[in-house]
Amino acid sequence: MTPTLPIIGRLNHLAIAVPDLTAATALYRDTLGAKTSAPHALPEHGVTVVFVELPNSKIELLQKLGENSPIAAYLDKNPSGGIHHICFEVDDIAAAAAQLTAHGARVLGDGKAKIGAHGKPVLFLHPKDFCGTLIELEQI
Ligand code: CO
Repeated sequence: MTPTLPIIGRLNHLAIAVPDLTAATALYRDTLGAKTSAPHALPEHGVTVVFVELPNSKIELLQKLGENSPIAAYLDKNPSGGIHHICFEVDDIAAAAAQLTAHGARVLGDGKAKIGAHGKPVLFLHPKDFCGTLIELEQI
């Protein structure tokens, strides 16, 4: 049995899938008074994202982009939007993946980290293994 070590660190961001990025950005900026970025199209990730800067973390508003968007199925089930995933920071993503796999958690895709929306290695853990929540790990 692998020893249990701390894996996750800070909450890096919480991602919300939205049907209308302009309207969602206006809500966070004008109603909630948050600092929001311009929209960034990330075709390789199938989303357009607006970053909402909070004092202690970030929120990412995600709108689908292109045909095979990874958030399309989620938005079909949740047409008004909803929390899509949460992202925790890790120091060593390969070590985290190995330890999580040893504890029975499933890493999505081929099990290896890929470069994510912030240019850093990320991977996703199966939501059925984590209380129905899609978890992203990002190496900082
Ligand atoms: Co994310």
